[in-house]
Amino acid sequence: MKKRLAIIGVFLSLGLLAFSTYKKPVVKSTDPADIEQKVDSVLALMTLEEKIGQMVQYNGSWDVTGPATGTDNEKKLENLKNGLVGSMLNVTSVEHTREAQKIVMENSRLKIPLIFGYDVIHGYQTMFPVPLGESASWDLELMEKTARVAGRETAAAGVHWTFAPMMDISRDARWGRIMEGAGEDPFLNSKIAVARIKGFQGEDLSDAKTIAACAKHFAGYGFAEAGRDYNTVNVGIYELNNTILPPFKAAADAGVATFMNSFNEIDGVPATASTYLQRDLLKGDWDWDGFVVSDWGSITELIPHGVAKDKKAAAKLVVKAGSDMDMEGGAYESSLKELIEEGKVDEKLIDDAVKRILRVKFRLGLFDDPYKYCDEAFEKSELYSEANQQVALEAGKKSIILLKNENDILPISNSIKNIAVIGPLANDKDSPLGNWRAHAVENSAVSVLEGIKNHAPKGVKVSYAEGAKLSTGDRSFLNPMTFNEDDKSGFAEAEKLAKASDLVVLVVGEDAFQTGEGRSQANIGFAGVQDDLIKTIQKANKNVVMVLMNGRPMDLNWSAKNIPAIVESWFLGSQHGNAVGEVLFGKYNPSGKLPVSFPQNSGMEPLYYNQKSTGRPDGGAQVTYSHYTDSPREALFPFGFGLSYTTFEYGDIKLSANSFSENGEIEATISLKNTGEMAGEETVQLYVHDLVGSITRPNLELKAFKKVSLEPGESKTVKFTIDKEMITYFTANKKWEAEAGDFEVMIGGNSVDLKKANFEFK
Ligand code: BGC
Repeated sequence: MKKRLAIIGVFLSLGLLAFSTYKKPVVKSTDPADIEQKVDSVLALMTLEEKIGQMVQYNGSWDVTGPATGTDNEKKLENLKNGLVGSMLNVTSVEHTREAQKIVMENSRLKIPLIFGYDVIHGYQTMFPVPLGESASWDLELMEKTARVAGRETAAAGVHWTFAPMMDISRDARWGRIMEGAGEDPFLNSKIAVARIKGFQGEDLSDAKTIAACAKHFAGYGFAEAGRDYNTVNVGIYELNNTILPPFKAAADAGVATFMNSFNEIDGVPATASTYLQRDLLKGDWDWDGFVVSDWGSITELIPHGVAKDKKAAAKLVVKAGSDMDMEGGAYESSLKELIEEGKVDEKLIDDAVKRILRVKFRLGLFDDPYKYCDEAFEKSELYSEANQQVALEAGKKSIILLKNENDILPISNSIKNIAVIGPLANDKDSPLGNWRAHAVENSAVSVLEGIKNHAPKGVKVSYAEGAKLSTGDRSFLNPMTFNEDDKSGFAEAEKLAKASDLVVLVVGEDAFQTGEGRSQANIGFAGVQDDLIKTIQKANKNVVMVLMNGRPMDLNWSAKNIPAIVESWFLGSQHGNAVGEVLFGKYNPSGKLPVSFPQNSGMEPLYYNQKSTGRPDGGAQVTYSHYTDSPREALFPFGFGLSYTTFEYGDIKLSANSFSENGEIEATISLKNTGEMAGEETVQLYVHDLVGSITRPNLELKAFKKVSLEPGESKTVKFTIDKEMITYFTANKKWEAEAGDFEVMIGGNSVDLKKANFEFK
């Protein structure tokens, strides 16, 4: 976790705060019709220095996620007073945001309010499942709801803007930040991005219970070579457009207030300096009118990238490319004025950037009242409220995936009287909070052990043994390398307990700080001595339910063969244990589906379902039916996969017609029956395969999904519409087009077990 020192202490100690004299204006400035006019009139009053100031964002605490600018605090304070700062990040709470805002409102010439940004990725104080985990719910309403609650808590803490949602498609489980996104699929990512944006921003940005969202990281960050963080990205124009950009386009269309660019280069051009991405696409073709913030220091990082010799050269490249605000990089504040005076940068570019920033501030209503998010009573009632805990519990349950359930060992039967809860994560009240935990209180989550005790039927004895630890060192944000414990001294006690119990719940996986920024791993197996612990427990008792806690797909090869039940619980947030408890005892029937493929081993990464055929799809003469000689080619658990306590039977696909043209459509229907004994929910997925394209096409692509609830024995007909949009892609013409030809449509409960039919687009 980032340690944050409040800005307030620093400023107060300098004794520079004055009493507020700000008065609310009578006329509201959030009417879209007159915002543009007001933006222009403010811009007309601004000096060049003040304009550049709006493009500067300072960190409000003196601890960092990357190298700091070296700008001293007193200078920062002076700049704030002189109206030379547009935004601050990491200033939180009503008290602190008010104090920082006051510095600007009471000292600067034009009194342009600051916009405060913060990383609220999966909750502010109430923690929801990490984004990858929550994506397993495939429940868009739920994700809108959790973003709304996270947004309310953030707004209640005086903050206007979150750096979320992250929508980087990631296909490589080694990449630590895979946990922050919605997985490997462009369609699912797009839908989830829009749901989260709607949740954060609501209908009206000027409502002080909503906050501005930020589409990040634009773009390609999730394709970092070999999953190494910040690494080079090599994708061509077709992959970029067809796979990486769709969620960003959807976010722009949904009216996301801001974008953040990214650290990586794409094919030789750092994304932060990419004119193609920022000017040509985002602000050009997509006609989007918000502002782009750089990632932390990503402008100055053009120097080590080797495309700029100094800050000035970096600032020149990036302002031309269309990045509007410099996050803690110090390049804009040190160089833009000189660049303009020397005629190397056109002031029109500065005007455009400033207008975009002012526009968002107007939309948030900050010009009407810069303190409108400063409401102590709301802060007190909203943060970690009981109602928010209920939403966290709902989100937790819906994000759980049942990966394996041999002999219906789950839900735990009434005949089980002694349960052993074992494992390094079993009684962990902190890891469930995840990595991007904002203002979560340390150790505040309900542990799996607590959840099991809360939900076990009366008379069931629940005992606990840790077995092993994942880390005894400092596991904080700043110290990634501590998950290598080799102490097995707890094994004997755990083994004894396993032998004496009817059933073992074995809670293993990853510490919260094994995924996240700077947390890539070459191996995605179990860290420390967990492999040995799993084998020891399985030998002692065959009735083992493995509960996984993790932020990335893991290598579960051995466990998938030898452990009868596996429950994927990710990092579920504040109510983790209760959500798991409800699932294990059958109070909730799990319905999550994988948003990302689970490989058989680390060496298969990057692995994703929507692959293309090679010229030798079955391996050819040399390597029969496999990409590898030492590994199967299929995922261990494929994209879209997840079991239920009931079973579902799919009928055959019926198409209303076998072809359609330009403005036509086909209705595809399929019957779905609950053939088990419990009510349950199934996510019906529709995939399309474009058989011949002007460029090579994936073997299948998710194009629609529906969640369907069924009582035992009940059947429903599920309908989808196949239309031109579903088959439109970025073609060899470098245009978004639907090409005439033959297609396959596939429907089923995961990306492998599918019913098929064919249609033609004329
Ligand atoms: C991350 C961003 C984050 C920013 C501010 C960077 O290191 O890449 O995702 O929003 O820090 O904390």
